[in-house]
Parts: sequence; structure tokens; C-alpha cells
Amino acid sequence: MEWVVETRELSKFYNGVKAVEKLNLRIREGEIYGLLGPNGAGKTTTILMLLGLTEPTSGRALVYGYNSTTEPLKVKRITGYLPENVGFYEDLTARETLRYIARLNGIPDKESSSKIDEVLKSVGLSEVSEREVGKFSRGMTQRLGIATVLIKHPKFVILDEPTTGIDPEGASHILDLIVKMSREQNITVLLSSHLLHQVQRICDRVGIVSEGHLVGEGSIEQLGREIAGKEQTFLEVQVEELMPNIANSIRKIEGVKEVRSSGNLLSIRCDRDVRRQVSKVIVDSGTLPLQIRSRDYTLEEIYIRYFQRG
Ligand SMILES: Nc1ncnc2c1ncn2[C@@H]1O[C@H](COP(=O)(O)OP(=O)(O)OP(=O)(O)O)[C@@H](O)[C@H]1O
Ligand SMILES: [Mg+2]
Repeated sequence: MEWVVETRELSKFYNGVKAVEKLNLRIREGEIYGLLGPNGAGKTTTILMLLGLTEPTSGRALVYGYNSTTEPLKVKRITGYLPENVGFYEDLTARETLRYIARLNGIPDKESSSKIDEVLKSVGLSEVSEREVGKFSRGMTQRLGIATVLIKHPKFVILDEPTTGIDPEGASHILDLIVKMSREQNITVLLSSHLLHQVQRICDRVGIVSEGHLVGEGSIEQLGREIAGKEQTFLEVQVEELMPNIANSIRKIEGVKEVRSSGNLLSIRCDRDVRRQVSKVIVDSGTLPLQIRSRDYTLEEIYIRYFQRG
């Protein structure tokens, strides 16, 4: 088996309105793949087609080689799915919810009870396992969502915006949990999100979708290189004091494309190595460079550039 997910020219039109068009997506076993794109780009529609919950207008979606449209039960058996807006029965406790989900998946209570303890512990809900889910915060509900995904021992997990509306600390816990789940159990993860720094932190590869198309794909490093072309790099310069004329003088150096400053930091986009010239300008202006280092593009910069290019 080569790909966990493979879509071939996958397309979906709702009454003639395009949601996804000729999407070719491939996800490897064990990887955490981030699906990025603005509202309405087609992320959720793609996910629903992968799960066999909506039918493609044309093209195919395969999960572990199973056709999502003609063999949806086989896909569902090995796939865990956390929808965008997950909801549970409010008067069940966390433990009862998990038992219920286990039953739905054909796991007898005798077998599920130790598994439930284990899963509750791994998502950090052991202490509230007897609390009614209706009284959970959004972050707790989301963790319970991940627990319901884990209880069925999936090989592949799809998480649609798992951290939206959760505070930074809670989101960070959920991200750690996703990485742990993927690494420890070799689970392949497809994660859709708008939150670029979160995606950057945990994804091995990302795909950027715009109007139903995949417009960019790769590791963040690869995407950065692609966007930048071969020659462009970033320099980050910390100066002892930001003199008013420094940024303008640096802009005049040949090869410098863009200069931004904030506090005593300068961020310089350039198409060649200009470190010597930058140092000289800084010293000539009467202060000192404390640090000059080159850095890669952030996912945020990559993403914005993809959409600027159109
Ligand atoms: N059930 C539906 N009926 C009609 N149009 C739909 C339906 N579901 C989605 N669409 C349309 O398909 C397009 C893609 O929507 P989709 O929900 O896949 O986007 P998304 O990338 O998940 O967006 P978001 O980031 O807002 O969740 C949008 O134009 C949307 O209006
Ligand atoms: Mg969506």
C-alpha cells in the first residue's frame, strides 16, 4: 500500500457551483498532513468525499485503496473523524459517551472499559470522566472528540479544524495530543485548519487549497523555497539601537527587496548575501549590529504569497 489517501481528479459541484475541482491529493502513511485554505476553499467538502459522506461529481477518492464512494463502510472502519462542529448527548458523562461510541463500533463493554480509561487518560479527561458532557468547555469537548476518535483504533484520522475557538494553551495541548497519537500509534493524520502557526508546528507536509484546487504542496521548507525562487532569503538583524535612517539606507543596497523594522529588529528580504553591506550601513549610522542571521519563510508568509500570486 503506497498512499493512505489518494484522490484522482476529485471534483464536487453543488448545483453547478464548484466546491472542489480536479483535486489530486496524496497522503503517506504516518504523516501529519495539513490542509489549508480560506473559507469556502473546499476543505470540508474534500473530507466528506473521503469519508463517503457526500458523492463526488467526478473523479475518485481512495483511502487505503478503498473507494470512498463504493466502499464507504471499509473506509469508515479504519478512519476516525472529528467533524468541524462535534456534538454529543449532553446528559451522558464522558465515560458513557465513550462507551456508547465503542458500542456503535461493535466493541463490547468488557473490552472497551480498560480502553476507555486509557483513552481518557491520554486526552487528559480522567478527572472529569463522570461529568456530564453538556457541562464541558469547548476545549474539553474537543478533547473528548479526539477520545471518541481514538477509541475505535483508527489507522487514519481526519480532524476538521480541531482547535478553532480554543484558547492558546488548550489548543497547544490538543496539538501535542495529535502529534503523540500519530507518532506512538503510527496513525496518519489529515488536519484542516486556518491557523497557520499551529499547522506549521505539527504538520510534516501541507497542501494549500484555493477555490477547490491544490495550489501548493510540500513541506514548509520546500514551499518556502518554491515561493522564494532559488535566490531569495531573509535576514533578521538585531541592532543595538534602531536609528531612524537605517531602514532607508538598507533599502538602497543592491539586492535588497524589502525591509521591515519592529523594535530593534530588522527583517530584510534579499536576493543575494548582503550581510557585509548591511553591517556597514548599521555601523555608519552610529550603532552596532548585535546579531545577523538568515531565516526561512514562515508558513504565514508562504500562504499569503500563494494568494497574492492568484
Ligand atoms: N451542502 C452544500 N450545498 C451547497 N453548497 C455547499 C455545500 N457545502 C459546501 N458548499 C459550498 O462549497 C464550497 C466549499 O465549501 P467547504 O465547506 O468545503 O469549504 P471549507 O474550505 O471547508 O471552508 P471553511 O474554512 O469555511 O470551513 C463553498 O462555496 C460552499 O458554499
Ligand atoms: Mg470547512
